[in-house]
Amino acid sequence: MPYKGKLGELAKKVEASRASRVGVEFPRMTMDERNDVLRNFHPDYNEDGFRELKVGVNKGSRLTNEMADIFESWSLLRDVDFDLTAKPDYDVDVLIIGGGGAGASAALEAHAAGTKVMIATKLRFGDANTMMAQGGIQAADKENDTPAIHYLDVVGGGRFENIPELARALVMDAPLVIKWLEEMGTMFDKKEDGTMITIHGGGTSRKRMHAARDYTGAEIMRTLRDEVLNKGIEVVEFTAAVELILDQHGRAAGAVLQNLETEQYMFARAKTVIIATGGSGRLHYRGFPTSNHYGATADGLVIGYRAGAKAIYADSIQYHPTGGAYPPQLLGLLVTEKTRGLGATPLNINAEQFVYHLETRDVASAAIIRECEERGLGVPLPTGITAVWLDSPIIDLIHGEGTVERQLPAMLRQFQRFGVDIRKEPMLIYPTLHYQNGGLLIDENGLSTVEHLYVAGEAAGGIHGTNRLMGNSLLDIIVFGRRAGRHAAAASQDLSLPEGLNMGHLDVFHQELEATGAADHRVGPMLLPHYTHR
Ligand code: FUM
Repeated sequence: MPYKGKLGELAKKVEASRASRVGVEFPRMTMDERNDVLRNFHPDYNEDGFRELKVGVNKGSRLTNEMADIFESWSLLRDVDFDLTAKPDYDVDVLIIGGGGAGASAALEAHAAGTKVMIATKLRFGDANTMMAQGGIQAADKENDTPAIHYLDVVGGGRFENIPELARALVMDAPLVIKWLEEMGTMFDKKEDGTMITIHGGGTSRKRMHAARDYTGAEIMRTLRDEVLNKGIEVVEFTAAVELILDQHGRAAGAVLQNLETEQYMFARAKTVIIATGGSGRLHYRGFPTSNHYGATADGLVIGYRAGAKAIYADSIQYHPTGGAYPPQLLGLLVTEKTRGLGATPLNINAEQFVYHLETRDVASAAIIRECEERGLGVPLPTGITAVWLDSPIIDLIHGEGTVERQLPAMLRQFQRFGVDIRKEPMLIYPTLHYQNGGLLIDENGLSTVEHLYVAGEAAGGIHGTNRLMGNSLLDIIVFGRRAGRHAAAASQDLSLPEGLNMGHLDVFHQELEATGAADHRVGPMLLPHYTHR
């Protein structure tokens, strides 16, 4: 037993009540109860963590302090004399910034359309949140389900703030995405008769979560990466985009890149640019730990914003209810929602359930924070923080022995490394910073508010309103990655090489910073979290 002393006694309580909880459904909250717990306990509703943005196209909007800090920063090129009349280091039709699932999907479509494509990625190709996504990908492709029902779940989960055209595109393309991935070799879980196994996630009214065990993102990224490499698409690794370049008409026309090993600057000229740089969990809003990849530092948002791209719901952050809390090596790491999807229940110190196990993430997280902070019913940990139990062994009681091992092999191994056998012992969890619900505003084709600039994946905003459901991120990176790739390629085919390359937008932005005194000494984009040494 890894839980010693008092913790061991508390874990025994969970064990003792387990059998009596099988088949008993905890009541769901009413809409008023949901709103109440969100208002009082969700970090997005705590005004201390936010401030008004002083510069740029979203001036006056509310942003988290950490994101406002990085939005209000000087360019890394402020004191660099950069010659854009020189011969470009790269000349392409479609420049894709970011080598995760959205970038790879965009590259495949743009390449298929016959354009010259290049992916520039600041780490290795595939080092991204896509790789770390676990539980699954949603698509309404079963007989009892339709894209219309999926749509209702998406907008209900998103607190009715989603841009309807984007939510519509998401659900309509979903069945095609599953087919596309399968045909490329993604190995989804199937029954013996060959039909896909699908389960529930928080807030889904149908079982439409398709998974590859609990490493779905890694399996999808494996397929996409292989395909990009097999097609011979150019991928430039360890090369970050530090600023966008515009043409004489103010349209996106390339990017200044930095080789992270040599720190040398270079530039790519492009007819169209796709930002696919992912999220911002490594900004650690409000000091939360994160489930995110090291590269998730909002770079695309920062350089896109400086170039004039409008942001939407950038103040809406997703805290995943089940982040690892103990043993300390697991702090903040994702405990997949598939665990709840299979029936694992959140329990307080008295082994009592306090929230319906499949509430949406925002509500479930707020309920956990309330249990620990207001009600004082969290489990105190030797590390000084409090957490709640997630009773994973109940999964085998519900679905039969061997289910945890079969369906959650990555989770099993992750906890086993630190002495916890989640088939027998419950997990200790607390919300972790997981996702940026908003981002740069796009249309159905992935086009931002700047001409020739597209955005796909977590850097884009508007699809999920102010709360994304599980499995709709792996979906959106592919839906909007592909759409952006297709449309950027089509646009490029009608264009000649851009002329009058400039970064005049930086002068304007710097003047605003100067006038408002907003930037202090900060420079951005951050590229790597402050605790990594460059
Ligand atoms: O819980 C999870 O497996 C995460 C999935 C997602 O964010 O979609």
